[in-house]
This record gives sequence, C-alpha cells and structure tokens, in this order.
Amino acid sequence: MSNASLVIANWKMNGNRALTREMSEILRDNQADFKGVKVVVCPPYTLLADMAGHIYYDEIALGAQNVSQHENGAHTGEISVAMLQELGVEYILLGHSERRAEQQESNDSIAAKAAAVTQAGLTAVVCVGEDKSQREADKTWSVIQAQLEQSLAGLSAKQMARVVVAYEPIWAIGTGETASPAQAQEVHAKIRGWLVENYQQVGARVPLLYGGSVKANNAESLFSEADIDGGLIGGASLKGEEFSAICRAA
Ligand code: G3P
Repeated sequence: MSNASLVIANWKMNGNRALTREMSEILRDNQADFKGVKVVVCPPYTLLADMAGHIYYDEIALGAQNVSQHENGAHTGEISVAMLQELGVEYILLGHSERRAEQQESNDSIAAKAAAVTQAGLTAVVCVGEDKSQREADKTWSVIQAQLEQSLAGLSAKQMARVVVAYEPIWAIGTGETASPAQAQEVHAKIRGWLVENYQQVGARVPLLYGGSVKANNAESLFSEADIDGGLIGGASLKGEEFSAICRAA
C-alpha cells in the first residue's frame, strides 16, 4: 500500500508547446484517480507560461528545474525566484545531479538557492545521490550526508518546512537500473534520521522522494516503502499515460 503524497515530473531539456497541451489534457482527464496526491510538472523555462495557462484551475502544480540565488541584476541568462513566482511556480528543483556535474553546481550555491526559494515561500526540492563508484566503495551515506549538511546549511526550521529532499542515485538515472525498494528505503531511512536529528518534528515531515528510472511497473513497490513519500520522474514523465499511471500508483 502506497503512502506517497507527492509526484514530480522533471522534463529536463525536453518537450514543446504541443506536449504541454497534450500532457495538461491527460493529467486533467486522470487527476480524479490521483487520490489527492500532489502532482507537479517541471517543464523547461520556455514552457512554463504555456503550462501555467493550461493547468491553473487544476490540482496540478507548476515547478521549475533551477533558479538563480540572486534577487535581480547583472546576472545574464539567469532567472530569479520572483520571475518564476510571477508565472505561478510553486516548486523548484535544486542541485540535480546533472547540474552538479555539467554546471559544476556546488553545495554552497544550492544552499543559497534553497534559502532564496524557501524565504520567498516556494518549495525547494533538493536533490542528493551517489554515483556507482561511491556505492561500490560503500560511501553512499557519507556522500549523501555531506550533500545534506552543505546543501541545506543555514536554513531555519521555518524554511526547512518548505523543503523536499529527492534521493536520486546517479547510477539509476536514465539507465533503467532502478534501485530496489530495499536499496532506496535504506537510504531514505538514513535521510529521515538525519532530518529528525537536526530538525526534529519539522524534519520528520519533510517529504522524501525517490528518483531514478521510476516507471509504471515499479512505482507502487517503491512508494510502499515507509520512508518513500513519492517520486521524481524523468523519462516516464514525458509520456502522459505512463506518468498518469505512476501518479495513480502513488
Ligand atoms: O529528476 C528525475 C530524473 O533524474 C530521473 O530520471 O529518467 O531515470 O526517471 P529517469
């Protein structure tokens, strides 16, 4: 039996205006089956206004895949929290492993972004995860603990109440090699323990999402684990019927 409460679609650098319209219609047609699960769609920046226009009277929430930590000013190419808030964005992904790798995004910059997002009253979805060599060297928890400590540094309890943590083992992202429910639960339980130790009751309520090759045929077994509160979905979120099936499994 699933205890998931939140499913987020990360379109990454994919999609177009046609998919935005098609996905909105499929989610609207299926959302009655989502049993109150919060569904968030994070398209590329260029599709946010379109998506907002299609879903604003539905239960589907709008998310973004990144943001600047700066309020405004001479930061060419950057997008501020206020700009996203004006479009109706409620959730913002931070520190995805692809950004950590390709954009050399640091824990410090992620912490600054998390502070800006939560201070503005939006929800920061902070991504953590180990790579294959770190798991094989039994360094998974030390890697993730360092990411948590440094990416969430300086957040007050009030700001922490606006954080979601997404565990995405890098070796499972886009590979079809999904972590087993037991593997995912083992890490989620440690993340939950760290949150409770550092943020007590606030930490106990932070939603923990699993991401990494979640599909319609494995979602329910993952979401049935005690400390897995939902999923962060990549490839499968670009297919309306499969993403709807994952939301129904939540
Ligand atoms: O952010 C979610 C993403 O990293 C997972 O991708 O394609 O393995 O579901 P995928």
